[in-house]
Amino acid sequence: MATDLTGRHFLQEADVTADEFRHLVDLAGRLKADRAAGREEPLLCGRTVALVFEKASTRTRCAFEVAAAHQGAATTCLDPAGSHMGRKESVRDTARVLGRMFDAVEFRGADQSVVEELAEHAGVPVYNGLTDDWHPTQMLADVLTMTEHSARPLASVAHAYLGDARNNMGNSTLVTGALLGMDVRIVAPRSLWPREAVVARARDLAATTGARITLTEDVAEGVRGADFVSTDVWVSLGEPADAWAERIALLRPYAVTEEVLRATGNDRVRFLHCLPAFHDLGSAVAREVHEQYGLEYLEVSDEVFESERSVVFDQAENRMHTIKALLVATLAGRPC
Ligand code: CP
Ligand code: NVA
Repeated sequence: MATDLTGRHFLQEADVTADEFRHLVDLAGRLKADRAAGREEPLLCGRTVALVFEKASTRTRCAFEVAAAHQGAATTCLDPAGSHMGRKESVRDTARVLGRMFDAVEFRGADQSVVEELAEHAGVPVYNGLTDDWHPTQMLADVLTMTEHSARPLASVAHAYLGDARNNMGNSTLVTGALLGMDVRIVAPRSLWPREAVVARARDLAATTGARITLTEDVAEGVRGADFVSTDVWVSLGEPADAWAERIALLRPYAVTEEVLRATGNDRVRFLHCLPAFHDLGSAVAREVHEQYGLEYLEVSDEVFESERSVVFDQAENRMHTIKALLVATLAGRPC
């Protein structure tokens, strides 16, 4: 049966079935190839998408704007100070207003409950562009990147995620791996593992998909045989600067270095990172942390980040192709 996602929300990975997730990734691959061959067909002419950002973004915002432009749709971006939502107007009222003007709404902010409330009241598809709990559009790009850099089916791919695993990237990586039947490993201090409800959700999915789920504090055990090693920043958007001391103390052994990649025993291992990354002193925050703690890099060494094993810029580009697939899949079939 053909997969039809017309009118659907994408608030977290488990909103879609494994077939639907794979359909979005396959569609992104086709749209990417079509664009490269100069034969992309705009399917969203006249459509409008509201982009609501309560937290900063480079990739997600640009991916939505560029994908929409390629497909003939228009976007309006409301930045953190750019709307009344939540301050002078309730989320519910804002949702109903945006739904009257736009064909879809993207939201990035802290609380998952806000994107869910938008979805409940907007009457149009709502997409989660990152909350503290989930980062589902990132997962589409990560999986597309894995399929491009591995000849094996996803169900036999092993992905080890190292670092801060108790928020969006850790949760989403675990649940996505479980949904797609992968060998997914969370390698982190126990205090930074995904919360029990997320692990239970992943284990439930794994029971039907055949995924292998590992949570371990042991880096050597966690990365052995991995095809992909990934990580994320140790202090996320919205967290206070004083979180660095505790995170550095906990996560220093989980930084992705050449030694960690060697411990996979896989000379074809690839490195993933959703970005932005603290691999050098090229950003103000990295320099502040360096001044205080003397570290040249945090979650990934510059050597790994800049190596041939690193596919992070393919992954960043794939944000655009996969978000385009999401827009096409959910909006192309809707009447204008
Ligand atoms: N990976 C990601 O979501 O990047 P941005 O924060 O730049 O959107
Ligand atoms: N965990 C990170 C992901 C950034 C894309 C954050 O929330 O800041």
